[in-house]
Amino acid sequence: MFQNLRPKVTAILNDKTVGVDDKLEQVCQLLKENVPHYDWVGFYFKNGTKAELKLGPYAGAPTDHTIIPFGKGICGQVALSHQNFVVPDVKAQDNYIACSITVKAEIVVPLFVNGENIGQIDIDSNTPDPFTEEDERFLEFINAAVAKIL
Ligand code: SME
Repeated sequence: MFQNLRPKVTAILNDKTVGVDDKLEQVCQLLKENVPHYDWVGFYFKNGTKAELKLGPYAGAPTDHTIIPFGKGICGQVALSHQNFVVPDVKAQDNYIACSITVKAEIVVPLFVNGENIGQIDIDSNTPDPFTEEDERFLEFINAAVAKIL
């Protein structure tokens, strides 16, 4: 599944007729529609010089969490740790920001430009414990490709 999606992601990101935000939204839609355990897919980016994340393009239900301070929730922790954060069961996390009661699991993978952590891709899943290393490698591939067009 992920191997088939990789060229589609590349094609979206290389389309010269589409702006960056529209490309990222298309990537989010592609993932949400084609990966059964992806129920909400979005990008967060560092908000200027502030120690907070701002919601970027996404696919799925609108969220109230458009600004997340560094350190808060899974996303805010990844802004500081610079490491993938795989959460098999969100109920087991103390520092978690709930977006929807249907969400069971989450994965956040940081996005680096020239070695700097400038944002992340965030996936919510309504399936318990759905993520494997394949998800991590796939999302790392996407972020590396996105980094080239930012
Ligand atoms: N659950 C995230 C907040 C963002 S929503 O999933 C869209 C967190 O704990 O950081």
